[in-house]
Amino acid sequence: MNIFEHLGHQHRIIGTTLDALHGYAAKVEAGVDPSHHDLTRFVLFFREYAHQRHRDAEEEVLFPLLTKHGFSMTVGPLAHIRQQHDEEGLLLVRLMKVAARRNLWSRDEASELCAVAREIVHFERVHLEKENELLFPKAQEQLTDEELEQAAKGLAKLEKKHGDAAWLEKLASELIADYVPKKD
Ligand SMILES: [Fe+2]
Ligand SMILES: [Fe+2]
Repeated sequence: MNIFEHLGHQHRIIGTTLDALHGYAAKVEAGVDPSHHDLTRFVLFFREYAHQRHRDAEEEVLFPLLTKHGFSMTVGPLAHIRQQHDEEGLLLVRLMKVAARRNLWSRDEASELCAVAREIVHFERVHLEKENELLFPKAQEQLTDEELEQAAKGLAKLEKKHGDAAWLEKLASELIADYVPKKD
């Protein structure tokens, strides 16, 4: 898998897990009380997989290679994406705060949970689309074979640092199975 296939694979998993978070929030909104433990599992997935590992693959592996092709880290598209990653972190902190509550959700807390979950789903979908449609195709045109090799080494180094992601992808597939509404 080259870096673009790797990032695309992660985007697909993140995208479908967003559908699951949307399904979870819809249940809360409908007055069903889904597993609170699963909210913690959503937080875990988005923090560790999307906000940590996926962001590192973009910011630490892909972006430095793009700076050799006229992209800047401090202005333009890469700066914008990096700023969005910071915003993503803050949205996830809001979700963590709801997940960290000791007691069952009050009515107000349930609506706070739905509001932040929907904000995350919307924000992330727009973010993924921007990268898929605008950034990655441009980046793909630029990288040389040698740089793709460097990217593969960078990803391997990250995997060594964070460990294998199979458990997170399994977690995502369970949340997807439980919360993405089935099509008839
Ligand atoms: Fe990103
Ligand atoms: Fe991304």
